[in-house]
Amino acid sequence: MTIIVTGGAGFIGGNFIHYHLKKHPEDRVVCIDKLTYAGNLSTLVPVMDNPNFRFCKLDICDREGVFKVFEEEKPDTVINFAAESHVDRSIDNPGIFLQTNIIGTATMMDSCRAFGNIRYHQVSTDEVYGDLPLDRPDLFFTEETPIHTSSPYSSSKAGADLLVQAYHRTYGLPVTISRCSNNYGPYHFPEKLIPLMIANCLNDKPLPVYGEGKNVRDWLYVEDHCKAIDLIVRKGRIGEVYNVGGHNEMANIDIVKLIIKELGKSEDLITYVTDRKGHDLRYAIDPTKIHQELGWLPETKFADGIKKTIQWYLDHREWWEEIISGEYQHYYEKMYGNR
Ligand code: NAD
Ligand code: TYD
Repeated sequence: MTIIVTGGAGFIGGNFIHYHLKKHPEDRVVCIDKLTYAGNLSTLVPVMDNPNFRFCKLDICDREGVFKVFEEEKPDTVINFAAESHVDRSIDNPGIFLQTNIIGTATMMDSCRAFGNIRYHQVSTDEVYGDLPLDRPDLFFTEETPIHTSSPYSSSKAGADLLVQAYHRTYGLPVTISRCSNNYGPYHFPEKLIPLMIANCLNDKPLPVYGEGKNVRDWLYVEDHCKAIDLIVRKGRIGEVYNVGGHNEMANIDIVKLIIKELGKSEDLITYVTDRKGHDLRYAIDPTKIHQELGWLPETKFADGIKKTIQWYLDHREWWEEIISGEYQHYYEKMYGNR
C-alpha cells in the first residue's frame, strides 16, 4: 500500500512515519510537508534513506503540486496531519490557520476524489468540542458532543471536520476522522507546554504558566495516538468519527511541577503570566467508541511516558537547541542541497 502522510516533519506526523515504517515495512510512505516554522526535517533523518520513503516539500494548498504527487504515486490512502497547530499563534494571526487547515484539507480531498475516490483520514482534535467546566469531572467529550469552538485554531479544525463530513455525504469520499486529546512525547516543538517547560528548565529559564495554571488537559503519549490512527485507517468504519484519549487529565501547574521535580530544579522558576485569551478550561475525552469497536486502549501510562519524554529531550539536546537557535531551518538545504 502507498500512503501519503501530510505534515510528517511535525510532531505527530513525524512520530507516525517512524511508527508506520517499522510496523508496516512493506508500505510506501510519501510525506508532503511545507516545512513551516513547525516542520523540522531533522525529525525524518532516520528514514530519509529508506527506499520506501519519499519526502516532498510542498504546501497542501498547492493544488497543482499536490495533484502531481498523486499522479506520480497513485496512493491508496491519505492521512492529513498538516496543520497550523498552535493556539497562541492563531490568536495573533488567524489567516494562515484558515488557509492551511481548511483550504488545505479541501485540496487534499479534491485530489482524493480526482484520483479514484482514495481513502482519506483527517487528524482532528478534541478542541473542536470547546471546553468543559472545571467543577464537573463527570462530563466528557463523546463523538456526539456538539462542535463549539473557542479559538481561531479550533474553529479552523472544526471547519475542516465539517468539510470532511460533507465530502463523505456529498461525493461519497471514504473518510474517517479522529479527534485526539493533547499529545506529548519525542519531537514535540518547544513552543507547546511540555517541551517548552523541559527546555526552559534545562536552560534555567523562567517557566511561564498562564493564569493560575488550573486549566486541565487530557494527555496521551504520541505513540498511542499513532496506533489509534493506524487502527482507524485499517479497520475504522467509513464516515465515522473516533475520539482518542486515555483518561489522563492533569492541571497545567501539576505538569510543570512534575517536570521541575524530575529535572531536580527549583519551583522558583515558575512565573505566572497573563492568561491566554478565551483559554479553554478543561478537555476530557470519552474513548469508549474506539475501545469497543476497534479494541484500542492507551498503552503508555503518564508516569512512564513523561519520564521517557524527559529522557528523550536530555538525549536529543541538539534537536531542540537547533530549533531554539533557528539552525533547524537550514536542514532542507543540508538534506537536499546537492541531490
Ligand atoms: P505540528 O505543528 O508539530 O506539525 C505540523 C506540520 O504540518 C509541520 O511539519 C508543518 O511544516 C506542516 N504544515 C503546516 N502547514 C502546512 C501546509 N500548508 N502544507 C504542508 N505542510 C504544512 O503539529 P502536530 O502537533 O504534529 O499536529 C498534527 C495534527 O494533529 C494537526 O492536524 C493537529 O491539529 C492535530 N492534533 C494535535 C494534537 C497535539 O497535542 N499536538 C492533538 C490532537 C490533534
Ligand atoms: P498547549 O501546549 O499550547 O496546547 P493546547 O492549548 O492546544 O491545549 O498548552 C497546553 C496548556 O498549557 C494550555 O492550557 C495553555 C498552557 N500553557 C501555559 O500555561 N504556558 C505556556 O507557555 C504554554 C505554551 C501553554
